Parts: sequence; C-alpha cells; structure tokens
Amino acid sequence: MSTENTDTTTEASTSTDTESTCGASTDATEETESKCGTSTSSSSSSSSSGCGGSKSETTDENVSATAADFEGDPGRLVAVGLGPGHAEGMTQRARAALLEAEHIVGYTTYIDLLPDEVTEQADELYDTPMCGEVSRTEEAVDRTLAGNDVAIVGSGDPNVYALGGLALEIVESKGTTPSAVDFEVVPGVPAAQSCAARLGAPLVNDTVTVSLSDHLTPMEDIESRLHAVAPKGFTIAIYNPWSRKRRENWETCCDILLEHRDPDTAVGVVHGAGREDEQVEIVDLGELKELGETDLVDMTTTVLVGNEETYVEDGRMVTPRGYESKYDY
Ligand SMILES: C[S@@+](CC[C@H](N)C(=O)[O-])C[C@H]1O[C@@H](n2cnc3c(N)ncnc32)[C@H](O)[C@@H]1O
Repeated sequence: MSTENTDTTTEASTSTDTESTCGASTDATEETESKCGTSTSSSSSSSSSGCGGSKSETTDENVSATAADFEGDPGRLVAVGLGPGHAEGMTQRARAALLEAEHIVGYTTYIDLLPDEVTEQADELYDTPMCGEVSRTEEAVDRTLAGNDVAIVGSGDPNVYALGGLALEIVESKGTTPSAVDFEVVPGVPAAQSCAARLGAPLVNDTVTVSLSDHLTPMEDIESRLHAVAPKGFTIAIYNPWSRKRRENWETCCDILLEHRDPDTAVGVVHGAGREDEQVEIVDLGELKELGETDLVDMTTTVLVGNEETYVEDGRMVTPRGYESKYDY
C-alpha cells in the first residue's frame, strides 16, 4: 500500500505535469480565473479558452496505454457523483463506493471536498487541477487496468456535463470493455436540483439544461439551442455560466432569453450551493446580464430561469405544477 504525495492545497496554482504511476504520461492544461482578473496557468499545452479553445489544442492530452499493456486482472472502475459539495449532500451509496475504492481520482477541488473518513481510507488520491479531464480519466482507467479498485469523482452527477461518458469512451479506446472493469455509475444530486432546493421550487415542471461552455460545443450551437427552448414553457437551468473568457457567451445568453421572455421573469442565481461561499439571489431576467460582472456569477454558479408561470412568494421561487387547473385548493 503506498500513498501518493498529493498536494490538494493550491487548487488555482498547482503546477501539474504528471507522470502516471501506471506508465502513461499525462499532461494537464489548466487555467483558473477569478473576477479580479487574475489567471494562473500551469501546463505544457497552451489554450485559448479556459480549457483549451480548439480540438487540435485539446487532443494533445495523451491517451496512450492500452489494456494489452497491463498484466493481471483489472480492478473495478466507479464514476461517483459527490452532489453539491458538502458531506451531507453525498448519497450513502456514494460514500460507500468511495470507502470501497483503493484509489480516488478527481479534480483537485472535488478531492478537497471529500470527507476525511474517505480520504483516510483510500490507499491513493490522485488529483489534477481544472481541465486535465482526459488525462485524469485516462489515469483512472489505467489504474483500474493495473488491478486497483478506482473511483473517479466529480461534483453533482456523473451524467450531467461530467466524466461518466468520457470514462466509457476511454475504456473502449484502450481495447477493453465496461464489463471487464465492472464499470458502475453512482449518481449524485446534480447542481440544478441542489440549487433549486435553495430557491424554493423553481423546477417542478419540464426543465431544459444548457451549458454555456463552448469548450466542447460551438457557441453557434449553444445559441440555436437557446433560441429553440427560450420561447417554450420550459424552466431552464444554465450551467457553466460565466468565466472571463466566456463573458460574451453569458451576455449573448441573457440577450437571447430577453428576446423570448419578459424582463420580469423570475430567475434564481445560486453560487456554490452547499459550499462555504454559497450565495443565493432571486432577480428579474432584465437584471441578469449585469450580474455577470459580480462575484455571484462564475463557474461555480447555476442559474435557474423560471417559465412564464413562475412567481416569487416570500423569497421563494414557485413554479406551479398545474394542479390548480384540476383541483380547488
Ligand atoms: C462541469 S459542470 C458539472 C455539473 C455536475 N456534474 C452536476 O451534476 O451538477 C460544472 C457546473 O456545474 C454547476 N455547479 C457545480 N457545482 C455547483 C454548486 N455547488 N453550486 C452551483 N452550481 C454548481 C456550475 O454551473 C458549474 O459551472
């Protein structure tokens, strides 16, 4: 049993140029931002948009070792959703899966959020700062192929803008199968639902989620999706709303919403749900764009846009489910 020297104290400034313990070399690009305009970057691959602006820039993450390079039986690979971030927000199943894992792999911020009982139980923790998604996931798969039981962790749920799919793609690209590594997804509470809970009941009807991250989806596509859903009766959960390099995406999104919805549409903005720096506000859609320049809206924020029936009562957002059309109450 060995314990890797894992520095989880400097999320924004850790220089990561890592050598996989499984023999695959990893190269993480990370760039983190703050509203004061500072940006720290440590990587050997450059990028133009936070996590790498173009496909050609991002594909230099190395997915090299294959299943044939490993001897012996593989271990288990589990993708675990941590929920919003505080220990009480984690499901029992997630906690159990983490306690069972020999190695835990994740973005530094999420490794930092793990309860002590989990980190103390693990043989090894492997964390990288933001944007090393491919190399980090490859590391998790390689460690599994080397015979370890591995959990790869992320906030919320592994199926919501997260690494569940990437893990399966990498398993396949290495010439093995999900069954061979006994792959399992352990769900967590997604940010939209954690944030909704802080606001009242804004999402009780049909809801669409949209990510403003143009790292993997071109902004033209995001715009046409917004135009498609904004006029309808959906409530909308906006993930990845703002970063210094995505300021324009945020402004475009607010403009599109205002083209289709009244400026007094209720909007809930939750920063850091369940974390120490949590902030919750309910505003009118007409006021939303300017919040992009405040600490309330950044990459730890989810924005919930009400539908035309959503209202605010005593500081809570309420989206009627529709019972009032059938029952008297
Ligand atoms: C890459 S996505 C991951 C989503 C995650 N898998 C989930 O199920 O919530 C990251 C985005 O999730 C949202 N998010 C994650 N944690 C959050 C929190 N504690 N409070 C508010 N939003 C959060 C933010 O919009 C952030 O930009």
